[in-house]
Amino acid sequence: MNASNTDFVLAVENLTVSFDGFKAVDDLTLYVDEGEIRVIIGPNGAGKTTVLDLICGRTRSTQGSIRFRNRELTKMSESAIVQSGVGRKFQTPSVYTDLTIFENLEISYPRGRNVFGSLFFKRDETVIRKCEEVAEMILLKDQLHESAGLLSHGQKQWLEIGMLLIQDPELLMLDEPVAGMSVTERQETAKLLRRISENRSVIVIEHDMQFVAEIADKVTVLHQGKILTEGAIDKVKNDPKVIEVYLGH
Ligand SMILES: Nc1ncnc2c1ncn2[C@@H]1O[C@H](COP(=O)(O)OP(=O)(O)OP(=O)(O)O)[C@@H](O)[C@H]1O
Ligand SMILES: [Mg+2]
Repeated sequence: MNASNTDFVLAVENLTVSFDGFKAVDDLTLYVDEGEIRVIIGPNGAGKTTVLDLICGRTRSTQGSIRFRNRELTKMSESAIVQSGVGRKFQTPSVYTDLTIFENLEISYPRGRNVFGSLFFKRDETVIRKCEEVAEMILLKDQLHESAGLLSHGQKQWLEIGMLLIQDPELLMLDEPVAGMSVTERQETAKLLRRISENRSVIVIEHDMQFVAEIADKVTVLHQGKILTEGAIDKVKNDPKVIEVYLGH
């Protein structure tokens, strides 16, 4: 197929950020397709988290462009980027442990969208249904009215993913989502991400190569702010350069 660059959900081109002359991300170009799960791997300090910081507007680039659905994100505020459909989960879960699962999901529902023209009752029904639907997806439907403080670390990570899903992002970015999870939770998370990517694109940063192999459509290897290689997991994991700087350690 002859896809032009405008066919991608996300087009990052020549992206660079310098911190006092040190280029944490250096002339990075990457394209993410619709419904794709892209995994970014690489050694500590490679610039992985910084790439997500740049996409979500938390860090401003020194050079380059980030187009999401053909909107230039480098000029938009962090909240405008969220509203345009980019959701981002940070490394540590930040759910409200004094609220129930339902309440955590409910407060994340984007209220602004339907304020005008819909009846209060109808809106509430919509919110309740959406919370139930998301809770089912993140495997917490049975605990809907229990305190989030009772959840395991892994379940808290799922809840936080749910709090993003309720906003229906077209692009979801997750920084090390299975860190600290049990083997079973990792397997469930892989399935969850597969379901999530049925109608959105996902970017995941991850170190667990078994998990990466389970979820990745394509892997990008970062090293010193640059792409070392990119492609299918089998190609990437056998690449001598990747073994040298990352997998061999
Ligand atoms: N705001 C900042 N100011 C100065 N330096 C920064 C800033 N953010 C990141 N860096 C530096 O940029 C480099 C890349 O950091 P980043 O957190 O993106 O790495 P990473 O690939 O996510 O690593 P890890 O696997 O350890 O999470 C590091 O050397 C870091 O110290
Ligand atoms: Mg990081």
